[in-house]
Amino acid sequence: MHLIETRDLTYSYSSVSQKALDKINFIAPRNARIAVLGSNGAGKSTLFKHFNGIFRPTSGSVLIRGEPITRTNIREVRKFVGIVFQNADDQIFSPTVEQDVAFGPTNLGLDEETIHHRVHEALRIMGIEDICDRVPHHLSGGEKKRVAIAGAIAMEPEVLVLDEPTAGLDPKGIHDLLGFINDLKKNSGMTVIFSTHDVSLVPEIADYIYVMSRGRIVAQGTIAEVFIQTELLKSVRLDVPLYPKLIQSLRDKGIPVSMAFTFEEAEKAFLDAFKGGS
Ligand SMILES: Nc1ncnc2c1ncn2[C@@H]1O[C@H](COP(=O)(O)OP(=O)(O)O)[C@@H](O)[C@H]1O
Ligand SMILES: [Mg+2]
Repeated sequence: MHLIETRDLTYSYSSVSQKALDKINFIAPRNARIAVLGSNGAGKSTLFKHFNGIFRPTSGSVLIRGEPITRTNIREVRKFVGIVFQNADDQIFSPTVEQDVAFGPTNLGLDEETIHHRVHEALRIMGIEDICDRVPHHLSGGEKKRVAIAGAIAMEPEVLVLDEPTAGLDPKGIHDLLGFINDLKKNSGMTVIFSTHDVSLVPEIADYIYVMSRGRIVAQGTIAEVFIQTELLKSVRLDVPLYPKLIQSLRDKGIPVSMAFTFEEAEKAFLDAFKGGS
């Protein structure tokens, strides 16, 4: 049984004739790192809003742990699937950062000590302990984003869904977030699904990719399977990450370098190529 599964999920906003989602078949297995790639308007946010029952399919279905979302299980589903939306402002409303991060765990009815522990762990992970007394409303966009993500982490959901998590973060913020996602993989069974149109980040964290365009999934597979499809990515207004692009260009010029997608892989590939050539 998959944690999240959609079957021919189709969704139309009532005011618009074109379907925002058209027969989406998406699966999130346990402990996966899934990237949903797509340019603006591809349907990423609309898809994510189906994962905890904010939207209901126009047709097709959404299964959480094999069960459709109903009125009776929606609270459980929202504990199980934590979502941080693209516009973090909408999810922040408490007088201080600390209270905001504590809001979810408090609603779960946890004891004081557990709440305190979870909140401070989440603040630490997101690097925002020093702003825990600040008024969220006055924070910068990137800071608000971190607060919203900390709030979701503090709920300790089985599936963490992050809609454009790096948008508005500075390089250090992005680096910390990637580190956090990679650590989750090592330290817990949490499954992470995130959307982005920034392809450069994807190889560092994802193990499976869905590529969306105009409400459809146009490609899916591992990093190597997806990022080799240069023409397709271009056709849906996405880029190819730097390392495979550079290596392909060198190969086209007759320089043999092994294909690589992450920084570490690329470093090794270039070292091997240089050593081999000397
Ligand atoms: N509230 C809405 N009403 C009508 N159309 C919408 C609404 N929200 C999104 N759409 C349309 O649905 C499509 C998918 O949007 P969205 O899921 O936000 O894409 P993404 O998150 O990939 O940028 C787009 O064509 C967008 O214009
Ligand atoms: Mg979006």
